Amino acid sequence: MKARLFIETYGCQMNFADSEILASILQPQYDLVPDYSQADLILVNTCSIREHAEQRVFNRLKEFSALKKKRPGMKLGLVGCMAERLKDDLLRSELSIDLVVGPDAYRSLPRLLSEVEAGQKGIDVLLSEEETYQDIPPVRLGSNNISAFISIMRGCQNYCAYCVVPYTRGKERSRDARTIVEEAESLFRQGYREVTLLGQNVNSYKAGELDFAGLMRQVASISPLLRVRFSTSHPKDLSDELISVMAEYPNICKAIHLPVQSGSSAMLKKMNRKYDRDWYLERIRAIRAAMPDCGISTDIIAGFCGETEEDHRETLSLMREVGYDSAFMFKYSERPGTFASRHYPDDVPEEVKLRRLNEIIALQQELSQESNRRDVGKVFEILVEGESKKKTSQATGAPQYFGRTSQNKVVVFDNGILPDGSMVHKVGDYLQLKVLSCSPATLFGEVLSPQA
Ligand code: 5AD
Ligand code: SF4
Repeated sequence: MKARLFIETYGCQMNFADSEILASILQPQYDLVPDYSQADLILVNTCSIREHAEQRVFNRLKEFSALKKKRPGMKLGLVGCMAERLKDDLLRSELSIDLVVGPDAYRSLPRLLSEVEAGQKGIDVLLSEEETYQDIPPVRLGSNNISAFISIMRGCQNYCAYCVVPYTRGKERSRDARTIVEEAESLFRQGYREVTLLGQNVNSYKAGELDFAGLMRQVASISPLLRVRFSTSHPKDLSDELISVMAEYPNICKAIHLPVQSGSSAMLKKMNRKYDRDWYLERIRAIRAAMPDCGISTDIIAGFCGETEEDHRETLSLMREVGYDSAFMFKYSERPGTFASRHYPDDVPEEVKLRRLNEIIALQQELSQESNRRDVGKVFEILVEGESKKKTSQATGAPQYFGRTSQNKVVVFDNGILPDGSMVHKVGDYLQLKVLSCSPATLFGEVLSPQA
């Protein structure tokens, strides 16, 4: 009988994709279980992007360490970005961690685990300039069998001054296009209808002569019924060619996540973002000119080193000018070892950071609401993903399902039940929906007509 493995994942989509690689590497020895209390091995796949993310993991590790006292045979491993950043400090801490493995060393897990079984601690945090895991078929852990991640490149060497990622994930490297296209084709054959191409810097993908726009063309050509998304792009690598490929293929979703970080050119320079406000706004105009209906979302950091009220107001004014559909918004969190932590004092007081963040969040709520209101009355094609959180409509008692628009907005709708008890509209169907109303976070629609 195989041993039991529980994986808990924190952080970005790349980490979720990496957990699928971990599960695949350990499949010969371990069965995945949904509940950690019965596991023989717990792996925590971690994120170092902000202090708060690490704190959450530390709290969780305390719980797992306490569980180990009750279940002495159980092993605890920490993998991902925190493993890379904190290395053997983790093995020396009071937490009883058996195994520390960085993001490029997952292939050594079986060997390290046999060392752990022999009573030693296992550690491998070597970064690689080549590892992409391109030959390892991920074990899909997503919540539906419709939408999957495909990791296409790893690492980042942009060295934004605040960011720990280049230190925890190493240099940029891209997978061969053939392996990516084959993975997407195989998913489509299995019934998947959406793939999200992932990378820390997805649009700086480069394999020989092929760039990201060329790769998108290949993946989008697999079938008009396979939706293609990508995340996360760096504005500096958002080429005109990529914009025109997006506009050309109806199955490439009209949604771009384009982290701006700040609306102030002075801050952007200090952050080493390699673009300024005007350049970013020009990219937004280029997107809108080619795809007037494109959803645009962003990441924003409040209170980076030396940020003045004027800089902050420029962030607010840029947000209004772009009219983002949604945003992830953060307080600056100093990360040890980054350029900013070595050269700039973290000098915006905590209460000022918090107030600015709250202003940014309040403005985004307004913008998201406006964006949703603009959609009321319009018709969208959605891909049905599953039951809605509420499961049944309060108004009609009908089963409620949800899907996503190309722009990546969730639309909830009433489903029907066939005489045999199955749903009229199934997960994986494409439907035309008319949006009837909206809340700040969700659209509500009615089905116009099913489509093949
Ligand atoms: N502090 C706060 N936010 C950060 N991010 C990256 N590093 C930090 C940091 N040190 C944010 C950026 C990035 C997103 C993934 O996390 O906005 O785009
Ligand atoms: Fe971090 Fe900048 Fe790389 Fe994104 S592009 S992972 S923010 S260093």
